[in-house]
Amino acid sequence: MSNTEQTLSIIKPDAVERNLQDEIKKNFVENGFNIKDEKKIHISKNEAEEFYKVHQSKPFYPELCSYLSSGPIIVMILERQNAILENRKLMGATDPAKADEGTLRKKYGISIDKNSVHGSDSLDNAKKEIDFFFNS
Ligand code: CMP
Repeated sequence: MSNTEQTLSIIKPDAVERNLQDEIKKNFVENGFNIKDEKKIHISKNEAEEFYKVHQSKPFYPELCSYLSSGPIIVMILERQNAILENRKLMGATDPAKADEGTLRKKYGISIDKNSVHGSDSLDNAKKEIDFFFNS
């Protein structure tokens, strides 16, 4: 039975600033993801607040939103079997210091804030996040 899913991936400002987008995209393709759509954008603080509103009660929310809107990002729709889980495995732990060898955050992340990539954490959030960037 096919379990093809789509997930939303973001290459964050720290990685775009270091021109790592092509290398990161290569990791996705080599791990079986199809990049169905992508665009480079620079969002406003208000848009970042809307995107990350699930985290609005967290102490790091203001910094998180300032950071995501601090420079250009690449947003992508990634597709493959079990895309949500597989992307989270490929990204590794949120904190690069705790991420396994070979994961994107271990390879490219600088800190828990500047952790280079975001990926949806559930099917429901993937749909919402894809809609947010691509269907609005
Ligand atoms: P991301 O997967 O984009 O989702 C929310 C982001 O908040 C997370 O990656 C981190 O970059 C950032 N963040 C900052 N501080 C924390 C923290 N203490 N715990 C979890 N996420 C954090």
